[in-house]
Amino acid sequence: MDEVLRNWSGEFVLTSYDDAANATMFIAVHSTRLGPAAGGTRIKTYPTAGDALADAARLAAAMTLKMAVAGLPMGGGKSVLAVEPEPLSPEARHGLLRHHAENIERLGGRYYTGPDMNTTAADMDMIGEGTGRVFGRTPAHGGSGSSAPDTAVGVFHGIQASVSHVFGTDDVAGRTVMVQGTGAVGQPLTEMLVDAGAKVLISDVDSDRADEMSARLPVLVVEPDAVVGTECDVYAPCAVGGVLSPETIPALRCRIVAGAANNPLSAPSDAQLLRAADILYAPDFVINGGGAIHLIGYEALGWSSEQVQRGIRGIGDTLRSIYAAARADGVTTEEAAERLAAARLQA
Ligand code: NAI
Ligand code: PHE
Repeated sequence: MDEVLRNWSGEFVLTSYDDAANATMFIAVHSTRLGPAAGGTRIKTYPTAGDALADAARLAAAMTLKMAVAGLPMGGGKSVLAVEPEPLSPEARHGLLRHHAENIERLGGRYYTGPDMNTTAADMDMIGEGTGRVFGRTPAHGGSGSSAPDTAVGVFHGIQASVSHVFGTDDVAGRTVMVQGTGAVGQPLTEMLVDAGAKVLISDVDSDRADEMSARLPVLVVEPDAVVGTECDVYAPCAVGGVLSPETIPALRCRIVAGAANNPLSAPSDAQLLRAADILYAPDFVINGGGAIHLIGYEALGWSSEQVQRGIRGIGDTLRSIYAAARADGVTTEEAAERLAAARLQA
């Protein structure tokens, strides 16, 4: 934990423990430079509390970049509720989310939460029983609902921009796309790609999910451990982070990595490995910004759906300019995107 905090550029972390759920709780506020910090609540099992803190710290830093690149007036934060491997009872989960709401209130407006991995709009409703500082509640509870479909729309625009950069046309028809993770984002993304004429390969550790999709759509299922070596034009990680590492990058057989997963690089230096392998990388905090644009656009800025969709389409244009800057400056796309964020944070 010492090392995580020593190497982290963020503002502060709130920690506590929920006895009933046996959960260690972290709210990492990385930056309030552009506005109150915002970022989702992730419920997950980690080997140690230090790993959970490291995840919260790194995800919060990525949210700062995401907000800056998307031009949203918010800072970056993230919550991690680190639970035991055994499933939580509904009562324990409810109590944990109420406790989390109390912690958010303690921060007095410096942090707003929303959904993330393993949390849904219904969970946001429960958090909303104790604090108004929560995005992504169900429409019945005054929220804008799940951000995942709009995240998928943004990823689709990002894939088009990436295909255009590599192949000279943004038409995905006939291109092979490997979607890893057919959850809340992966499913609508797969549907859009199929509609656009792409050849779609899907994979999910939950084989029932993958089978359900392959029964209703013309997609092929790939075993989870075969994803990395599968030949495709675009690899779209839409599941866990850390999938791009010195071990996996040499085995990739794709031209583009463009997906929703937060923190897909195991370390920042992996961006160099991708560049050296001539694989175009769409930085996560740019391509997956559709969810943030949806939540903050509708709920904090009062945007119409037309304004939200315009913001999400902008993800494609932002990626095009990042790719052009990376080429002109001879740097990785990750570096070019970080420079764009830094310019906005300093402005
Ligand atoms: P989800 O939990 O609904 O779906 C994830 C899917 O990936 C599940 O079906 C799970 O079984 C599967 N999965 C897990 N490990 C896998 C593996 N090793 N191989 C293949 N499949 C695996 O999550 P959601 O909301 O679809 O998010 C996906 C990713 O996108 C996450 O990294 C999340 O942080 C990121 N993201 C989500 C946003 C949103 O609005 N939901 C916004 C921005 C980023
Ligand atoms: N967790 C999602 C993300 O990483 C959605 C989200 C955005 C949640 C902004 C809260 C605030 O983008």
